[in-house]
Amino acid sequence: MWNRVEHTAREVFGTFGFGEIRPPIFEPTELFARAVGGETDIVSKEMYSFEDRPADLPANVAGAFGPDYARQLFSGHEKGEIPNSLSNRIALKEIRQRLEEIDTEYPKMRLGSADASAEAIEKYNSLLQRLAYLISRVSLGELVSLRPEATASVCRAYIEHNMHAWPQPVKLYYTGPMFRRERPQKGRYRQFYQIGAEVLETVQQGQGGAKDIPKDAAVDAEVIEMVMAFFGRLELQGVQLEINSIGHNSPDCRRGYVEKLKAALVEVKDKLGEDSRRRIETNPLRVLDSKLEHEQAIIATLPRIGDHLCDDCKSHYAELKRQLDLRGVKCHENWRLVRGLDYYMRTTFEITAQGLGSQNAVCGGGRYDGLVELLGGPPTKGIGFAIGEDRLILSLQEARKEVASGEGRVASGKIGRDVYIAWMGKTSEETAIRAAQKLRTAGLRVELPPVEQKFGKALGQADKLGSRYALILGDDEVASGQWTLKTLADGSQKKMGEAELVEFLKGARALSG
Ligand code: HAM
Repeated sequence: MWNRVEHTAREVFGTFGFGEIRPPIFEPTELFARAVGGETDIVSKEMYSFEDRPADLPANVAGAFGPDYARQLFSGHEKGEIPNSLSNRIALKEIRQRLEEIDTEYPKMRLGSADASAEAIEKYNSLLQRLAYLISRVSLGELVSLRPEATASVCRAYIEHNMHAWPQPVKLYYTGPMFRRERPQKGRYRQFYQIGAEVLETVQQGQGGAKDIPKDAAVDAEVIEMVMAFFGRLELQGVQLEINSIGHNSPDCRRGYVEKLKAALVEVKDKLGEDSRRRIETNPLRVLDSKLEHEQAIIATLPRIGDHLCDDCKSHYAELKRQLDLRGVKCHENWRLVRGLDYYMRTTFEITAQGLGSQNAVCGGGRYDGLVELLGGPPTKGIGFAIGEDRLILSLQEARKEVASGEGRVASGKIGRDVYIAWMGKTSEETAIRAAQKLRTAGLRVELPPVEQKFGKALGQADKLGSRYALILGDDEVASGQWTLKTLADGSQKKMGEAELVEFLKGARALSG
């Protein structure tokens, strides 16, 4: 199923002109902090981050904190392998002083030495402790994180590889693992897989502004149409698309709205849960995302963003809905759909599917004009989405189970075979190997048992593997050059010469797809 899903994604996205990008699994933490936002759950608590360090420097673990390790730090710093930051320079300066003291104190505390006293030993130990602390303060390299999502990486790559000079817009998709330290449950994992796509377009001189609105809305609608076409191709059940516009970051639009929202939230503060109360200050929009039962009635009374959009954002949203309608894409509007990443503006959307329980969002996305610029690139528009592949497959499996149990069987997900080669007898081995080679070259799925089997056992095995045909090769077949092909569904048999058989099976394969 994973293969089928990814293969279908490549096929469908290809028909919309998307090419594949493979971003790295880890990147500087700074990239995600900037792009996704420092106050978001993803960055503030869910990222797996660690400090990189020079290749030949051992890990900064307990026991490695001694004077020898400190000397390695100096050499790493001199070679430029350890960051030359102010805080590192301060720490290294004090480390040098403490090392000198340690060197003078050492002879005094050595056991057996005339001066060894409890006091000298204590002094020496406290110097070592201070040294260990100072060493732990040295930053050995850049802070990096396992990617919690890939939009930031795609934008980073767009800048790094000068994609603004490519024919515009640049349309890219990716598949692969993402990492978030969330509470695991059905459909929510700490390593999960996404299939995502992004459309990036750098704004040329003299372009942009209000006159781009119809074009932008059409691009948004086509991206959403593409995900829906993909889900349609997979026959995903119970697909529901929700859309919203969260405006743009300006006082006459989202910023003004957020102020009003904040004021309204302060009014009802006492009735809110702890998380929402905290978010009034850090990220008031996220309160709208709350799933807490007792907050629902309160949220229903809060001001709505749709009533506070500026004229451009309003017309973009209206045009998006018209464009979706033109494409026959059905959607529901949800004014509370704000998404958990800071880079969005205007269009946001989410898609749910059946059979998933509480974690039922299989796809989320939206527009993020300005993100490339925020990361140091030229003014660029962006729109994209990511599908949770684990959830997508869970939903497909649930639907399959329903169909299968209706038909009185449970799907086993086995890989079928076209041909099982039932061979027996001294002369048949070589023929069987050659037959397998020919048939595989012709694209057929072939099972060749490594040792000869009695025909009864071989046919049983072929049946278990879901093979369509069994090719029977015994001494008689080899001697006469007429091979026996058995159709397992009805038990009928035919004799054919080698070339005729290959052609026949090729044709049968083409017919069955
Ligand atoms: P997101 O909403 O954070 O958006 O994630 C997209 C999808 O990934 C979710 O709808 C869900 O299906 C899946 N997902 C997220 N977290 C988990 C998890 N812990 N376990 C299983 N599945 C999960 C983004 O990541 C954006 N980068 C999407 C985007 C692309 N926006 C614009 N371009």
